[in-house]
Parts: sequence; C-alpha cells; structure tokens
Amino acid sequence: MSDKTYTMENIGKIPVHVSIIMDGNGRWAGERGLDRSAGHAEGVESVRACTEAAVEYGVKYLSLYAFSEENWGRPQAEVDALMLLMFKSMVEELSNFMENGIRFVVLGHREKLSDELNAVIDDCMRKTSGNDRLTLIVFLSYSGKWDILQAAKRYARDLIEHPDEAESMLGMGIDGFDRYLVTAGIPDPDIIIRTSGEMRLSNYLLWQGAYSELLFTDVLWPDFRKDEFLSALRTYSKRDRRYGKVK
Ligand code: FPP
Repeated sequence: MSDKTYTMENIGKIPVHVSIIMDGNGRWAGERGLDRSAGHAEGVESVRACTEAAVEYGVKYLSLYAFSEENWGRPQAEVDALMLLMFKSMVEELSNFMENGIRFVVLGHREKLSDELNAVIDDCMRKTSGNDRLTLIVFLSYSGKWDILQAAKRYARDLIEHPDEAESMLGMGIDGFDRYLVTAGIPDPDIIIRTSGEMRLSNYLLWQGAYSELLFTDVLWPDFRKDEFLSALRTYSKRDRRYGKVK
C-alpha cells in the first residue's frame, strides 16, 4: 500500500471539527510570477477539495479562516479581489452545497462587509440551513480577540438589562460564556491546521482553540488538496488528547 493510499480504515478516528488557517496563497502565486489574486483563486479549489473530502469522510464541521480583521489592512485592490472571490464562490457553490447536504455559515464582524456580500451570505445561509451532513464555516472579518470582546460586551449588556438574573449570570461557568461567542452551538475545533510553514494562530479561535490539536505543514494552501487533508486526519487520529489530565 502506498503511503498516500488513505481509506476510512487506515485513517482512524475522524475529528468532529477540522479548522484550517489557509495560508500561502500569495507565495504560491509569487513562485509562478502571478498576481496574488491568482493564488487566492487557486485557493478556492483547495476549499472545494477539502470540503468534498470532509463530506466523504464524515467530518461534521469544517471551518476556514478566510479573512481576518487584520486583513482589512492589505492593499485595497487585494481586499476587493478577495471579497469579489468570496461573493462569486458563494453564488457558484450554492447548488453544490444543496446537493451535498452542506450547511453554510459565515461568522465574523459582518457589519464591515458590503451590503451585497452580506445579502448573498444571508441567502446562502438561509437556503442551506436545513442541511446536516457537513457544516462549512467561513470566518470572515474575524479575530479571536474581537470575538471575546463582543461576547463580553453582550454579556455585560445582558447583566444590565436583566438585573434579576445577575446572580445566576455571574455564577455561570465556561459553557455559559461560550454562548456569547459567535461560534455558539458549534463544537470547539478538534484540530487546527495551518498551511505554508507559519507556526502561529494569528488571532484565530483563541478561546475555542484552547485544547485543539495543532498541525503545521509547509504545503502552501493552493497545493493543500485531498491527500493533504486526509494525511492531516491520519495525523490527528494518532494524537493522544489528555486535556491536561493523566491517562
Ligand atoms: C492567506 O494567504 C489567504 C488569505 C488571506 C485568503 C484566503 C481566502 C481564500 C482561499 C478564498 C476562500 C474562499 C471561500 C469561498 C472560503 P496569504 O495571502 O497570506 O499568502 P502569503 O502569506 O503567501 O502572502
């Protein structure tokens, strides 16, 4: 058996939630003398390949860090190209989501997105809301610190508006606060993968990733296709998760 022959049996335990920091599109394009936006366009093919593999192998949640709060600071032309790519991808992929039972969700600071993009996101989210084979989450205009801050503000507002419930709110545990994060109802990622050789979280899922397994690979995102995804699943299944306890 070639090392690259992956099957349901030899992969092992499948994670419920796989999350990916997609990185290296610009370098992929640069290596080919192409514009950075060509790298992002090729990256969409990797999104499709990983989504298909996730559906095939029974991953229930696949989340992707597509655009951080900090990415707004990129040159306007690149930001515009990325937003257009997201818009087009959502329009084009809707039928694919419906055929494959994919629920599509966008999470992040949505007020910063254009009205046109928000409209297509709302449409896609509404139409796919009854699908339950895979939840595909795209983090757009997201940062972990922003998420924790918006959760804290909403929690504080609830405290002010419902003084009668203050005692129970102040006594609530981690699970109670989880409900204020944009990821409410979504299980924490079992594994966070980052491509392109960078080894940091870059303000991604800081709260939710507290016990995620981390996997860093040198492969650039446009080259991260089905084999790389399945290889990551196999690596995950060999990890020993102890959550700070002794086994
Ligand atoms: C990081 O590479 C990648 C991004 C900031 C954008 C990722 C977005 C996509 C692939 C489009 C996704 C579309 C959908 C529908 C989810 P980089 O530009 O930072 O690369 P570099 O580090 O090599 O410069």
